[in-house]
This record gives sequence, structure tokens and C-alpha cells, in this order.
Amino acid sequence: MRIYVTLLLMLICLPSFASTTESNARPASQLYRRYCVSCHGSDGKGKTSKGRFSHARDLTDAQWQADVSDERIFNSIMNGRNVRGNMPAFANKLNEKEVDSLVTMVRGLKG
Ligand code: HEC
Repeated sequence: MRIYVTLLLMLICLPSFASTTESNARPASQLYRRYCVSCHGSDGKGKTSKGRFSHARDLTDAQWQADVSDERIFNSIMNGRNVRGNMPAFANKLNEKEVDSLVTMVRGLKG
């Protein structure tokens, strides 16, 4: 009897292990809506009230897009950035693949 209970528990737990592995990258649009929109807005301009309050960057700014490297965008998302404002770090919420796809998405916001 005990072995059946143990097996059953293992079966129940398997899918939740699988969903936390690195290979399961969630789509960038979904991540942006969940983690970024509150400050940067759906258009990337940062005109939300939380965006104004934290001095979120306008991600559509062509001059900034031209000056910034993909590597810096990646690091800013992973580690946060507190130069002009206060952006939280996302290293504990997103894996590298997901941050890579967000870098691509940020590039697509260029106005
Ligand atoms: C709490 C508000 C807030 C949230 C949530 C937020 N940001 Fe930011 N973001 C900021 C602020 C403030 C800055 C400006 C930081 C600075 O330059 O000091 C910024 C800057 C940036 C930059 C420019 C970084 C640079 O190196 O110039 C990028 C890219 C960015 N955010 C992307 C994102 C993405 C992608 C997400 C979601 C995963 C996100 N942000 C979530 C507030 C936020």
C-alpha cells in the first residue's frame, strides 16, 4: 500500500518539476505583459503612473535604442538598474532564454 501512495505522489509531482526547467521559456509577449507593462506600458513609452513614479525609461526612444547594446539591455533586465530611476532585477523570475527574447522584443518597440 505504501509503495502505491509513494508512486502516486511522484506522478502528481512530475509535471510541476518539468514546468520549472530552463528549457521551458515562456513567450516574450506574455512575460512583458506580466512583468513589464505596469511600468513601461504596452507601447513601451513608460507613461503609466507606476512608470512616471519610478522614472521608467521610454523604450521607444530612437536615440537610446541606437546607443545601447543588447548586452546592456540583457544585464539591465537581469540585474535591474538604478541610474535615472528604479528598475527591479528579474534574475530570480526569468531564465536567460526568456531575457534574450525580451531583449528582442524591446528592440521591436523602437519608435
Ligand atoms: C517598477 C517599474 C519597472 C518594471 C516593472 C520594469 N522596469 Fe524597466 N525600467 C524601469 C526604470 C525606472 C528604468 C530606468 C532605470 C535607470 O536607467 O536607472 C527602466 C529601464 C529599462 C530598460 C533600459 C535599461 C538600460 O540599460 O538603459 C529596459 C531595456 C527595461 N527597463 C526593460 C524592462 C523589461 C523587459 C521589464 C520586464 C521584465 C521591465 N523593464 C520592468 C522601471 C521598471
